[in-house]
Amino acid sequence: MASPVKPAVSVRGLHKAFGARTVLDGIDLEVEPGEFVALLGRSGCGKSTLLRILAGLDREVGGEVEVPGTVSIAFQQPRLLPWRKVWRNISLGLHKPDGRAVALKALEEVRLTDHADAWPLTLSGGEAQRVSLARALVREPDLLLLDEPFGALDALTRLAMHHLVEDLWTRHKPAVLLVTHDVDEALLLADRILVLDEGRVVATHHVGLPRPRRRASVVEQRTRVLADLGVDVEEAA
Ligand SMILES: Nc1ncnc2c1ncn2[C@@H]1O[C@H](COP(=O)(O)OP(=O)(O)O)[C@@H](O)[C@H]1O
Ligand SMILES: [Mg+2]
Repeated sequence: MASPVKPAVSVRGLHKAFGARTVLDGIDLEVEPGEFVALLGRSGCGKSTLLRILAGLDREVGGEVEVPGTVSIAFQQPRLLPWRKVWRNISLGLHKPDGRAVALKALEEVRLTDHADAWPLTLSGGEAQRVSLARALVREPDLLLLDEPFGALDALTRLAMHHLVEDLWTRHKPAVLLVTHDVDEALLLADRILVLDEGRVVATHHVGLPRPRRRASVVEQRTRVLADLGVDVEEAA
């Protein structure tokens, strides 16, 4: 009999404090292989802290954290090395003999092949973020962590990025944990939305809408998610 597939993320009773300040206070979280989960919550509620822990960048924690597969993380700022050409930013640390070919293939996926030999400082914000995505994908992650990757982009570029991420996810099917402030972004992309507050998961929404999704189709669920974030839509209108 085949053994059951391990979750991409398995967290039990995760606790994290900085000095006397508790930031994560008993988080339980499972993410299935290939599942797309969005994480919403106020600024400072511990979203980035959770992602850093899942990426193995912070191991001083209480509780159990299991992330069995390969992990890649992309941040709000693309964090490219300005003294390396685009393709070298992608192949950096891969230690593969055909680094350029691998980088070019990843650039093709984010539709940036023609920028392979460009310097990072010559890229637009959206292009730099696409390089950052290519760099994350080239490691063929089982778990892709995205920490507000579109937060600094204009609305139109954001929209294009949503399509790109959905497309990449459909083709590679990593588990994804996406941190965002944008409820529509979460509803358009995720299978499941978690709301984090005071160091705990206070609400879970299963989105369950057919894909590809359009803005109009998420309106109804938006009201309920906003309510969990403490926003009364009727009142705000
Ligand atoms: N290295 C650190 N040292 C001390 N406090 C930190 C550190 N990193 C984050 N914090 C604090 O932990 C809380 C959660 O931060 P963070 O996870 O970055 O929030 P979010 O990503 O949800 O905005 C904040 O109050 C922040 O100031
Ligand atoms: Mg953050």
